[in-house]
Amino acid sequence: MVWALVVTAVWAMLPAYVPNNAAVLGGGGRAIDGGRMWNGRRLLGDGKTWRGTAVGTLAGVALALALNAVAGPVSAVVGVALPTFPLGAAVGLAAGAMVGDIAASFLKRRSGRKRGAAFPGLDQLDFVVGALVVAVVLAPGWTRATFTPGVLAVVLVVTPLLHVVTNIVAYWIGAKDEPW
Ligand code: CTP
Ligand code: MG
Repeated sequence: MVWALVVTAVWAMLPAYVPNNAAVLGGGGRAIDGGRMWNGRRLLGDGKTWRGTAVGTLAGVALALALNAVAGPVSAVVGVALPTFPLGAAVGLAAGAMVGDIAASFLKRRSGRKRGAAFPGLDQLDFVVGALVVAVVLAPGWTRATFTPGVLAVVLVVTPLLHVVTNIVAYWIGAKDEPW
């Protein structure tokens, strides 16, 4: 029971987990805010680029399609009937994760935090909230059927843990400037 919830939660959120990491690797170039300021502070900052956002979104959608291709065999191995991702869900989870991360940068700049500053709580859950909100808009039936209260509870506990671990690894291997 708990196993099924954990496996389903991680599987269903994978298309939302990967965009952030792909954006770190693919980021660079023009900032989304084009350098614009608001009340003396950057609107979003140089850490949010068009290229990173596009690479992150495409990586999340591509992963969802790849997961669809292996859902059958993986379900058999883990003993849990895993969901496949309709295109709306794939795009919603991936693009939503990027939107949530961008919204968090907007809030970080408003609160005076410089690019790269940590904002505990927001850093770990911004993309989860963004992914679920955009997914429920683009694929309402699928999102409600997949993210049951039990799965949702696991997502909220497991995501911060995974996020902390992957960012520390990304920092170690030199892909990220800060370990958060
Ligand atoms: N990145 C990007 N575009 C995005 C998200 C991330 O190009 N939409 C890239 C940037 O190179 C960024 C890196 O991924 O520096 C790390 O992402 P993140 O930690 O979200 O950005 P920070 O640089 O820490 O900036 P912020 O304080 O705004 O979160
Ligand atoms: Mg950061």
